[in-house]
Amino acid sequence: MSACDICGVLRNPLVKVNNKGDTAAVGGICKDSGASVMAMSLFASSPQHMAKMPILFEAQKSVSSTDDHLNFHKDGNFRGTFQEFNSAFSSQNHHKVNIAAFKFDAPSPDDLVSNGLRSVKSKSKGEDSRGRGTNFLVESELAANGLVSSSTSVTRERHNGVEENDSTSGSGNKPETFNTRMDTESLPSKSGKARSIIERKTESISQYIPEKWMTPNNKDDGLSQLNLAIVGHVDSGKSTLSGRMLHLLGRISQKEMHKYEKEAKQQGKGSFAFAWALDESAEERERGITMTVGVAFFTSRKYHVVLLDSPGHRDFVPNMISGATQADAAILVVDASMGSFEAGIDAIGGQTREHAQLIRSFGVDQIIIVVNKMDVVEYSKERFDVIKQKLGTFLRSCGFKDSSILWIPASAMENQNLVANPSEARLSWFKGPSLLDAIDSLQLPERDYSKPLLMPICDVIKSQSQGQVTACGKLESGAIRTGSKVLVMPSGITATARSLERDSQLCNIARAGDNVTVNLQGIEGNQVTAGGVICHPDYPVQVTNRLQLKILVLDISTPIVMGSQLEFHIHHAKEAARIVKILSLLDPKTGNTTKKSPRCLLAKQNAIVEVVLQGPVCVEEYSSCRALGRVFLRSSGRTIALGIVTQVIKREE
Ligand code: GTP
Ligand code: MG
Repeated sequence: MSACDICGVLRNPLVKVNNKGDTAAVGGICKDSGASVMAMSLFASSPQHMAKMPILFEAQKSVSSTDDHLNFHKDGNFRGTFQEFNSAFSSQNHHKVNIAAFKFDAPSPDDLVSNGLRSVKSKSKGEDSRGRGTNFLVESELAANGLVSSSTSVTRERHNGVEENDSTSGSGNKPETFNTRMDTESLPSKSGKARSIIERKTESISQYIPEKWMTPNNKDDGLSQLNLAIVGHVDSGKSTLSGRMLHLLGRISQKEMHKYEKEAKQQGKGSFAFAWALDESAEERERGITMTVGVAFFTSRKYHVVLLDSPGHRDFVPNMISGATQADAAILVVDASMGSFEAGIDAIGGQTREHAQLIRSFGVDQIIIVVNKMDVVEYSKERFDVIKQKLGTFLRSCGFKDSSILWIPASAMENQNLVANPSEARLSWFKGPSLLDAIDSLQLPERDYSKPLLMPICDVIKSQSQGQVTACGKLESGAIRTGSKVLVMPSGITATARSLERDSQLCNIARAGDNVTVNLQGIEGNQVTAGGVICHPDYPVQVTNRLQLKILVLDISTPIVMGSQLEFHIHHAKEAARIVKILSLLDPKTGNTTKKSPRCLLAKQNAIVEVVLQGPVCVEEYSSCRALGRVFLRSSGRTIALGIVTQVIKREE
């Protein structure tokens, strides 16, 4: 057992018992992503209400947020001079702040990846099955079973009265045909279990040629979607910032805002009015903390921005992983107030630190640091510079380049530097962009349009009345359009994309990078699970419970040994896992093997390990699809290692 340093609540270190009491790992993929489409309902034009997912971990349920003495800025009216704050903080002995020395020698997750690519080259067996040209061991990719071809065509539905926002819709009016080569008769349908019999032909993937509609036509496609994760330590003001931005940009009406204000005040939580736009559940509002990822949209000059407002409390890091893994870029919100910034960067319980590491390992390399609550430190340039210097050093050690970090001093509460340059005279020293301009200066990452469809499922919404199943998630590669036949894994059922929604608007086509909801036809609710993957019927994602990983061990005090029980996270799936082999230690700089079969793994070491999961997950080698090949190992409520999948080993029955 370990105690939460924010709430003092004891936490069970082992993985998850869901609220029905059964182990959530049983039966395979996690049953609950923890990420939510809540704000889609808030701003949606469509009538259906999409509730936040129930909370999974018992330990999470017991989280108390009533320790208001630690949230000393909760009411937003804590004022004083910078010097007063300094001395007040340094005399506060009840608020334990343990600032660890920054380490300059830790390899970044990116180093891990690039070293890894070099190190296994010598052992390579062939080229990456998805044409990336790297040389990982990809044994299971070579398995080639003859799949029987069966062509399917489905007529596309029209949505009367709704503007369809994809100009390539011309081709979408035709009946949709994927050259399905899946022998659906041979599948054990409705079992809800992974089908190890679905294997794909390596050469067929390299031969995959996308159809014309699958690649975007910049001239006609309008604004692109930018998936923007809002991350940071608990109480730094992420939800308040998100709510404020939505309000300023007209996504929350004045009337709605008045309602939030009134209700928040009635519950004695007046300062949380803006956060209530994102913190939708009664439990979140009562506790004053975000528990699941809130999703909302706004439009900037350059992008359709999908905001993913993450929970900051350490007990909800699994939910943060599940939501923020979709990010193209991130806003890391830090609380400028004395003691709060320091708590966030603390080596033991600091989520500024953990979130930054996680975000980097999601492949995000552009980050905006919002130094929030500047009102509390009198908009002090001195405080801003201290934070910039300390956090900047840490971010560099995570692998962020200085040129990809934007620093914005702001106050979400006092609306300073959010969508316009600051009006506050005390912030006149800042000459940089407002937050909105900073968002517009972000670049979209490269999208995998040329590969077959892969969409990890973040959330599933089942409408009993209409018998509809809706899956939400971000397309990691390929494209989908209304009428497309898709394969839903791990259940292995083919279904039809009846309709698609992007930014709460019906659309005809969604492509890699788009965050969408897909209404599925021809499939039952229990056959679509969060943590599953929607794929092209000819190119099923791999499903296994045994993997070889290359990992980078983070700051840990207890060594990882053979048999260590861990919590395994991959895209939106999580499973209980056990280390069954520690194959080798690697030199972090060269990636070469320095020791075979070490007895244990210590902090900062790079290693190749083999894990067995309690249930199967949908996975790809990192060399094939980065988003489906990144893993996070957690234990006792902390992320203890980051890794990539180097080999998908045949599933153990
Ligand atoms: P979690 O999601 O639980 O991690 O918290 P959060 O980061 O979303 O913080 P939230 O928006 O819930 O705000 C926490 C508290 O900080 C609330 O009382 C807010 O009113 C307050 N707060 C947020 N932004 C500011 C700010 O700019 N200035 C001041 N003074 N208070 C702020
Ligand atoms: Mg929040």
